[in-house]
Amino acid sequence: MALEEIKATDLDTEKFIKKKTEEISRAVGNGFAVNALSGGVDSSVVTMLGHCALAERLKTYFIDNGLMRTGEPEQIVDIFDSLGVPVKLIDAKTKFLKALKGVTDPEEKREAVTQAFYRDVFRRLVKESGARILMHGTILTDVEETRDGFKRQHNIFEQIGINPEEAFGYQIIEPLVQLRKDGVRKVAAALGLPKSIYNRMPFPGPALATRIIGEVTVEKLSIVRKATEIVEETLKHLDFFQCLAILHEDRVTGIREGKRLFGNQIEVRCWDSLDARTAEPTDLTAKTRKILAARIIQEINEVVSVTFNETPKPPSTIEAI
Ligand code: XMP
Repeated sequence: MALEEIKATDLDTEKFIKKKTEEISRAVGNGFAVNALSGGVDSSVVTMLGHCALAERLKTYFIDNGLMRTGEPEQIVDIFDSLGVPVKLIDAKTKFLKALKGVTDPEEKREAVTQAFYRDVFRRLVKESGARILMHGTILTDVEETRDGFKRQHNIFEQIGINPEEAFGYQIIEPLVQLRKDGVRKVAAALGLPKSIYNRMPFPGPALATRIIGEVTVEKLSIVRKATEIVEETLKHLDFFQCLAILHEDRVTGIREGKRLFGNQIEVRCWDSLDARTAEPTDLTAKTRKILAARIIQEINEVVSVTFNETPKPPSTIEAI
């Protein structure tokens, strides 16, 4: 059956929130539900709707995969804490690093992160929670992209290895499945989520692993994490779609303290785009570029070269892998 789209322009956020909280309450009854929060706008809205409907009968987990930006797991948990929503932070850093060890192929890296998340960490949490209802932030675009073959299957039970028929009683609730991103952002604002959540710059699920060429290691993560922090901080006053830093695998010779250093290279990408399907490099001024390069080489000892992307998408992609 085709899903009926609710366009952002037709969306009455108050009515939507009331309807969805009632539906969640009815479906969960006296039991409880479980969900994973990433800090992205979709999972944040699902968490808030679930909390409004169920209060402490919703168990929300934030899985720290060790691939997040500086302070990100704690920041997200703190934001929800200040809204009165308890979120349990799960430290799964070693599991993800282990899954990524020795993996260099881009698609295999993505698969390793997906498998570690769904098959290992989240699957166990769902089973241990005893909840029979799982809430998920699927939006209409996810359903269409899955149907058209652009995206991996979004059927979350399949992803966590639970067959709903065998494991009788499991049910999934997808409160946002009639909305697109602009609609979700409207609901997020109406739910009182802060601008840092409803206007959050896109950040991929596999996180910083998509910004490291070659094997992901603790050392490389530390370099790309710091470079990402500098890029986001330096450019935050500008208007753009997304900005990021990439750590290349090739090394180049540089000079540090009068000695030759075969050091690392960082590539900075800053994008103008509407929907990420196509994108153009943002026109950064020479002054901005110089400030960025200077900060990166001053604050990250291992880096001796900073370059800037000038290639549109396509043929480039926004992330590096
Ligand atoms: P690409 O690199 O394919 O990215 O041009 C397009 C947009 O999608 C984001 N992105 C992801 N988002 N899971 C996500 O939730 C992913 O695996 C993923 N990969 C890329 C990317 O940041 C950009 O906004």
